[in-house]
Amino acid sequence: MIFDKGNIVKVAVLASGRGSNFEALCNGDTGNGRISLLITDNEKAEVLRKASSAGVESIYMSPGRYRTKFGETEEMAWTRFLMDRGIELVCLAGLMRIIKGPMLEEYSGRIINIHPSLLPSFPGLHAQKQALDYGIRITGCTVHYVDAAVDTGPIILQKAVDVKDDDTVETLSCRILRQEYIAYSEAVKLICSGVLSGSGRNRFHKER
Ligand code: GAR
Repeated sequence: MIFDKGNIVKVAVLASGRGSNFEALCNGDTGNGRISLLITDNEKAEVLRKASSAGVESIYMSPGRYRTKFGETEEMAWTRFLMDRGIELVCLAGLMRIIKGPMLEEYSGRIINIHPSLLPSFPGLHAQKQALDYGIRITGCTVHYVDAAVDTGPIILQKAVDVKDDDTVETLSCRILRQEYIAYSEAVKLICSGVLSGSGRNRFHKER
């Protein structure tokens, strides 16, 4: 998907918890991207308070009866809500659910995610612990397009973080998070500036 240069792009964030990436997106330089909506699958999520402080419309919507995916009807309802609000780009920021159905079809090439490792290393849950357990010396974060599998979509950008000898999951996660905040805004700005092409794994083209 290529967004037209110069046009404002309405962006929604989907999140389940703390919402520090959401907050960073609201405060960051996202270029033509406007953070316009927050949807959560968790009524008690801290991110709801952050949306209210940021003056961004927010809503809890039921994800259905499953633990790690959406019910078909519910995913359709989330998708309709996004469309009704004129959302053009969807950012997953700590959404603890897999998107597979109607949302992926409707927003194909327009859903992105942030993951706390240098993909394709350490996909899935607890990426920082996976990195420490493996004994890797450099890890980081990745912003990527979402496809039908977990953490496999085309990469938009990555930031590297050194692992220190005395790192714990907490200290490493904290340093990676600081890079996530920078990376996510940069990626949204890049996409919304219209310089990425619409398909294939390598979407950077002439203007970079
Ligand atoms: C972030 O570290 C994000 O990269 C991670 O969840 C955290 C959410 O924090 N996402 C994943 O692990 C996705 N596989 P936040 O709610 O403070 O933004």
